[in-house]
Amino acid sequence: MLNIALPKGRLGEKVYGMFEKAGFECPAILEPNRKLVFENAERGVRYFWVKPSDVAIYVGRGAADLGVAGKDILLEYEPDVYELLDLGLGRCRMAVAGPKDFYDSGLRSLKVATKFPHIAAAYYERRGREIDIIRLNGSIELAPLLGLSDVIVDIVETGKTLRENDLVVLEDVLPVSARLIANKAAYQFKTAAVEMLKANVKGRIEA
Ligand code: PRP
Repeated sequence: MLNIALPKGRLGEKVYGMFEKAGFECPAILEPNRKLVFENAERGVRYFWVKPSDVAIYVGRGAADLGVAGKDILLEYEPDVYELLDLGLGRCRMAVAGPKDFYDSGLRSLKVATKFPHIAAAYYERRGREIDIIRLNGSIELAPLLGLSDVIVDIVETGKTLRENDLVVLEDVLPVSARLIANKAAYQFKTAAVEMLKANVKGRIEA
């Protein structure tokens, strides 16, 4: 039995659809209820709905054998897991954004608001720019509007949130997409099952 942590929400539903087409269906998962664990013994899969930012914790600690997490989460938290496959879903980008007339004079620390302090720090370190990180948990776009920060480092998907708040992308940081990840010990014990799932899912991506 493979234990698979799926990110709750729209991305998780797309990922489940891909796994279903790859032969790892579990119809009970589509029933409208608040259950979190779904099993199809015949197909050898048990799915859990997990908060997207927690998937890597479940997989890293072996509570799940496999999971699906965004590249942003993997770079930010660096969990000790294997990254097996780029699923090509949940494509978006991490970017620096701010007011369209923003100009960095470089005279003082740049105030950067973000949910991704590690990624932001690494990005500016590569540029040799000193920053002051303001770690927030959501509604990041508000920070430059209220003068809490100069810029933000955040996920941009459609660009709607930036547009509606008069902000623009100033610099691209990195492309993001959903990745299939595996617990290292589980991979050793269940190599055949994991590789079979990976091959079937990969076949769906290429189809
Ligand atoms: C994410 C991200 C941006 C928004 C980008 O926030 O932090 O705010 O989505 O999407 P868009 O480019 O399609 O507008 P999320 O919805 O996760 O909410 P949050 O404010 O709680 O982080």
